[in-house]
Amino acid sequence: MVDRRGTREAEARYRKISVPVPCTLSHKETTSLHNLFLNYPDEELAYDLSGGLLALFLHTLDIQAFRSDVDGIKRTLASSSLCAVLDEAVRKIEAIRSYGIKGNKRIYVDYNSERKVRDRKSKELNRSQYYYTDGNTFSARNSLLPPQFENRIICGDSLEVLRRLPDNCIDLTFTSPPYNFGLDYESTADAHYWENYFAKLFAIFDECIRITKYGGRIAVNVQPLFSDYIPSHHLISNFFVSKKMIWKGEILWEKNNYNCKYTAWGSWKSPSNPYLKYTWEFIELFCKGTLKKEGPRENANITADEFKKWVVAKWSIAPERNMKEFGHPAMFPEELVVRVIKLFSFQRDVVLDPFNGVGTTSLIARRFGRRYLGIDISQEYCEKAERRMAGRLS
Ligand SMILES: C[S@@+](CC[C@H](N)C(=O)[O-])C[C@H]1O[C@@H](n2cnc3c(N)ncnc32)[C@H](O)[C@@H]1O
Repeated sequence: MVDRRGTREAEARYRKISVPVPCTLSHKETTSLHNLFLNYPDEELAYDLSGGLLALFLHTLDIQAFRSDVDGIKRTLASSSLCAVLDEAVRKIEAIRSYGIKGNKRIYVDYNSERKVRDRKSKELNRSQYYYTDGNTFSARNSLLPPQFENRIICGDSLEVLRRLPDNCIDLTFTSPPYNFGLDYESTADAHYWENYFAKLFAIFDECIRITKYGGRIAVNVQPLFSDYIPSHHLISNFFVSKKMIWKGEILWEKNNYNCKYTAWGSWKSPSNPYLKYTWEFIELFCKGTLKKEGPRENANITADEFKKWVVAKWSIAPERNMKEFGHPAMFPEELVVRVIKLFSFQRDVVLDPFNGVGTTSLIARRFGRRYLGIDISQEYCEKAERRMAGRLS
């Protein structure tokens, strides 16, 4: 037993948890406890049993091995009060969510310094984070969304509609542009010469940047057309970076969609021209002016569990299954929109989708207490979006 409670050394070297211990522990139980900790070197796991508390000092632990040692004791001491103490200790250890991993052990202290970068902050300064945004002329003065655009589905060409909005009035844009794959959209052809496609898309994105608030975000879902060898996700990211938006990161949307072709004819089992398969799409994220978005804390409505899960930037979400019913070939699954909206915006924020289709972004924005503006060029899709919002299409 090591008495490390409250010492400076313990604070620096260990992560401490403690569990109350009933004063009725028998001699046999106390001995079992001591024997349990003999399995672990003091530098990795130390303990102290005194004052009605079992204190554990964690540095490094193989949690599986610890759990099975505890199970062994529980089998020999069935129904003893020590079992409850040990269960509680395991529960508390497992509740610690921040740790490093080395082999099969969790490291509870100093695991960041394991990455061997000293003076991380000053090195970041020297390198100059997102240097490509230097010299941007974004105004930090945000404006209100005019009431005629609030909570509206508008039918029109986004380029025309967005031009009517003032600068800096949108908190979050989440959108999925037409893919240029030749999909059968209701009113627009979806197979243009690529240069024309990007020219039009970037003109619309230019407007999106202008109307985004300082601190606002733009999230673009992109599925590159791999068969044309057009890296749309890179071209789109390059565009935003050239406009001095901060590239916040990229979410990999794993659709687990294996329903795609395996190989170019004639290259089966040959290095001549194997065709790579992609079961995922991307969401590219950009911020205007600053990474930090201002907003009242009470207006964040993401739960701790959602936050922990969703900041891991690989999201496994099945594609929308009801596209036939809605008569739209490329809808967002609701779960994808829920995550983007809850993770990147506050309640009362304004959420824009300039390629709104049958209105998934608007629907979810409203469901989670955001204001919305959805624009689509197709009268039919806009009417469906309106009917969906009114609960008359689901
Ligand atoms: C990939 S879909 C978006 C689907 C949407 N995320 C949903 O869940 O329904 C792209 C949409 O862009 C629309 N569109 C194409 N060109 C447009 C333009 N210039 N302005 C506005 N909408 C346009 C198409 O009608 C199509 O509905």
